[in-house]
Amino acid sequence: MKKTVVLGVTGCIAAYKACEIVSSLKKLNYDVRVIMTQNATEFVSPLTFETLSNNKVVVSTFEKNREFNVEHISYAKLADIFVVAPATANVISKIADGIADDMLTTTIMATKALKIICPAMNTAMYENPLFQQNLKKLKDLGYLIIEPESGPLACGDIGKGRLADPQDIVAEIDKRLTPNPDYRGKTILITAGATEEAIDSVRFITNHSSGKMGISIAKAALARGAKVILIHGRVSEMLPDLSSNIYVKSTEDMYKEVIKNLDKCDIVIKAAAPSDYKVKNFSKEKIKATNINIELEKNIDIAAEVGKRKDNKKLIIFAAETSDLLKHAKNKLNSKNADLVVANDVLAEGAGFNVDTNIVTLIKPNGDIISLEKMLKTKLADVLLDNILLLD
Ligand SMILES: Cc1cc2nc3c(=O)[nH]c(=O)nc-3n(C[C@H](O)[C@H](O)[C@H](O)COP(=O)(O)O)c2cc1C
Repeated sequence: MKKTVVLGVTGCIAAYKACEIVSSLKKLNYDVRVIMTQNATEFVSPLTFETLSNNKVVVSTFEKNREFNVEHISYAKLADIFVVAPATANVISKIADGIADDMLTTTIMATKALKIICPAMNTAMYENPLFQQNLKKLKDLGYLIIEPESGPLACGDIGKGRLADPQDIVAEIDKRLTPNPDYRGKTILITAGATEEAIDSVRFITNHSSGKMGISIAKAALARGAKVILIHGRVSEMLPDLSSNIYVKSTEDMYKEVIKNLDKCDIVIKAAAPSDYKVKNFSKEKIKATNINIELEKNIDIAAEVGKRKDNKKLIIFAAETSDLLKHAKNKLNSKNADLVVANDVLAEGAGFNVDTNIVTLIKPNGDIISLEKMLKTKLADVLLDNILLLD
């Protein structure tokens, strides 16, 4: 899933620096939701944050035109991390005292996410013992404080109180949300699930693929900083919340979408089970005959087509077999010009379709074979991504 940063912006000069925080987080592929205090809107317009975050900005707890029914609770739950930057002396003290009298303080009280507070204020305000007591309260409660810097302040004074460098704040958020960013900068096209081949307007041919493997890879790749284009047919698993999810029905539809998106990606992982055959004479009318004879014809081979046009991209394919696993898998690797084949015997207990585990063997063009033990598809997704990074 795309991770969500809820960013609280409060009423101080440094509010404009929150614009840089929002646009940097967006570039890192995070969903950013901004909550402003009423006083923050005196410094920067909500429209600026709406444009940068591509999300509605919330100021009032009692907003009539709201996105969610009980908005402060929805935002509190949406947050993978809750950041207040810049945070005024007023807001910090209110949070420390358990006051919830506006949208920002109410939502932060309701969230269970990690909270990061970035104070910004005049030195005298910062050094005020009442403020220091409140800041300590938050620290002791596990809030992460990114201390302000020393230097010239907007009021003309020189001292501690300037908001920490926005890029340091972004780096801290990123480190917490993406601890292993080894796929950052890479775009992965992943196919998942089963396709459907229409017989008539009512019936279709499909297969047992649940999409679990492809969806697990998509989620793992996202967590490691990749951009993911997920092209999927029928699936029985929760999809990652991606604007780039593409739903297709037939193998032909999947082929068209894969080719359309091929240039955008560095890696193609074909974890779907597209039907090898399609119905030759599709009937728009529901077929009434008691003995239906369906003539099938070969579908386009998506993996082979990608193999022909892949240039420097890496192509990883799955081979679901029921006999002679290694022989068939090696043939597929060569005939489709793939860089790695993930072979599994779908008849083996704990492997294949519609189960949470898989038992696979990885085969590389240089003949290297890695046999992996039975493991959860969620774990296998990461092991597979580790191995893809090692491909030369
Ligand atoms: C020009 C100007 C600059 C301000 N800068 C700060 C600041 O850097 N830090 C701070 O804590 N308060 C600052 N304030 C005071 C806050 O705006 C004030 O305490 C307000 O009540 C904060 O509201 P909020 O915490 O709900 O956003 C500033 C006020 C003005 C008029």
